[in-house]
Amino acid sequence: MDIEALIGSMTAEEKIRLLAGASFWSTNAIERLGIPSIVLTDGPHGLRLSASDETGDILSNTKPATAFPIEAAMAATWNEELIGEAGRAMAEECQHYGVGILLGPGVNGKRSPLGGRNFEYYSEDPYLSGRMGAAFVKGVQSGGVGTSVKHFVANEQETNRMVVSTEADERTLRELYLLPFEMIVKEAKPWTIMCSYNKLNGTQMANNDEYLNGILKNEWGFEGLVMSDWGAVGDKVASVRYGLDLEMPGPGARDAEVLEAYRNGLVTDEQLDDHVRRVLGVIRQAIEARRDVPALETEKHHELARKVAEEAIVLLKNDGGLLPLRKRANVAVLGRFAEMPRFQGGGSSHMNPAKLDIPLDALSAFANTVYGAGYTDESIDEELIEEAKELAKGKDAVIVFVGTTEKIESEGYDRADLNLPASHLRLIEAAAGVNPNVVVVNHSGSAIDVGPFESLARAIVHAWLPGQAGGSAIANVLFGETNPSGKLTETFPLALEHNPSYLSFPGHIRKVHYNEGIFVGYRYYDAKKLDVRYPFGYGLSYSRFDYSRLELSAADLTNGELLRVKFDVTNRGDRAGKEIAQVYVRDVLSSVAKPEKELKGFAKVELAPGETKTVEIELDERAFAHYCEHLGRFAVESGDFAILVGASSRDIRLSAQVAFRSEDDIREPLTSDHSLKEWLEDERYSARTKQAFAGMNLNDDSPIFPILLGMPLQKLEIMMPNLKAFVSELSEG
Ligand code: BGC
Repeated sequence: MDIEALIGSMTAEEKIRLLAGASFWSTNAIERLGIPSIVLTDGPHGLRLSASDETGDILSNTKPATAFPIEAAMAATWNEELIGEAGRAMAEECQHYGVGILLGPGVNGKRSPLGGRNFEYYSEDPYLSGRMGAAFVKGVQSGGVGTSVKHFVANEQETNRMVVSTEADERTLRELYLLPFEMIVKEAKPWTIMCSYNKLNGTQMANNDEYLNGILKNEWGFEGLVMSDWGAVGDKVASVRYGLDLEMPGPGARDAEVLEAYRNGLVTDEQLDDHVRRVLGVIRQAIEARRDVPALETEKHHELARKVAEEAIVLLKNDGGLLPLRKRANVAVLGRFAEMPRFQGGGSSHMNPAKLDIPLDALSAFANTVYGAGYTDESIDEELIEEAKELAKGKDAVIVFVGTTEKIESEGYDRADLNLPASHLRLIEAAAGVNPNVVVVNHSGSAIDVGPFESLARAIVHAWLPGQAGGSAIANVLFGETNPSGKLTETFPLALEHNPSYLSFPGHIRKVHYNEGIFVGYRYYDAKKLDVRYPFGYGLSYSRFDYSRLELSAADLTNGELLRVKFDVTNRGDRAGKEIAQVYVRDVLSSVAKPEKELKGFAKVELAPGETKTVEIELDERAFAHYCEHLGRFAVESGDFAILVGASSRDIRLSAQVAFRSEDDIREPLTSDHSLKEWLEDERYSARTKQAFAGMNLNDDSPIFPILLGMPLQKLEIMMPNLKAFVSELSEG
């Protein structure tokens, strides 16, 4: 496809037609020029292809495809290679169905644990989201299918998501919410980005020149196309003028408006051609990479989905080594989710699994089981509770399945609290009342309040929404076929009220203020020295891992240099296992507010019993930088940085220090708005300031001196006209 030749032969009407979809899930074709249409569809954990596009039947009646664990679970594997493989498998399924673009991954932040779509996002940590997202994008695109990284940007809630304006400062946006997009765009070159519904600081994302053109396309060099979230375009002409390439879904109803704007000179040829070039570029990529995949590899992909689910499961508690359970033990399995698996979330990611493992069946392959439903919905059913108690009595262990329901956790609304349904809690209580060996298996896509049952359960397994093979993955972990190796990618707080966004989430219908700034998740709990239920990066194994011999490649560092962090991890357990080693950086002394520590590197290491491996992680300049608004870029402040190596954000095993001698001067220049005190104390200006005031005969014992010190220079000048000359000399300097 010769794109420039096509652009040269297209009419304005044809160009405009290409800038909106043809239907719910496809782009426009232009037969006259041989431009084909491509199909684009959800979603982040597997393919959800509507069987009937014409009717706009978007949620039900979808084609069978492999349902992988939801994104939060994929991130909990911390295994980029595995996520890449899952992406590649999804691409194969897209090829089979003729889909050109898979609408994912979602990389929004987890500002509040209540975010209704948190299950669809990777982590509260933007660096981890960026790494997992890049791995996923590379995996899918290696199979010749495009991705759409969504939702760009600052869309951290469901409440009012289509109308609210996120109000956030630039440093917060750069360091937290833009960072995953930046990392993915630069490293993985996604074919497309999907803009979000919300406004950002007052401007609709679908026509946000500063973000779409300024940051995404110009600054980061994004070459693909920006599509709208479904129905996110308000002012179509503005979206064409300010950076949106493709309005979805189709058919476009406002082509005439755009044509008129074009004829009036409001939309330029250059703008139209740039959009068309991007849309055609993606169509060409999809067409050239299209392959004939005659059959779905259902079994192979199911195995892969199981592997991801196994690596995602986080063992939260295991008192006295209750797990793994003994094979052939007598076990009561309680809770309806054991029979009707809770394996995915609600909304646009909801798909039709090609196959489905039932946890109860999988457990029964290892043990002698009896089963009781325990609940049918959220309300307590005393009859089922009584039955459960009888079943639980005298058994070697009781496995209780609980979790959020789709009524609680879905796209479209946020959660009201972190509670499990009353009927699920009652079931745990009932089981613990008659049997001390309770294992709770929790299915939720995000943090829950474990408080009400933590002391009742000897073991707690956070199984997420684990996809279609979750049932057998859980059984493999519980019976020790697999050594658990997932770690939390979000903090489980002791109380919802401890969350930094508690008082401002979800805000008002017009605005939500991200008041907590960069202090989200562990960045906040650490800074406030708050205890948490389970920290970021936490997860148990059936093995124990030791850390030793931390070595840094340099004692000091400057811009453009890499620091190599080397250390050993040893498996002290008697079974093979995987450990996720994490590297955090702490700025020992900073002139701006900074988190206690921030994740800057990690590695998942597989170790045989007794084996030691050396892990090497590279940190580049960015690992030490923060965003300086006045410089308009990331920069490093000179000083000491601690390199912390740990098994979680609250379990640091090794540390060392490096001195960064930065070429960046991150200090803001002083202005006449700054106070005399600041002028006197700033080493860049103090000598000159003292000199300027030397002749003034100002006595620093005078009772008015503190007042003068606190005044901005410009006010000093007004109050004391005889200072005018000094003030202007200083502020000019
Ligand atoms: C969601 C997107 C999704 C789209 C298409 C929207 O409501 O926010 O994530 O890709 O629908 O289903």
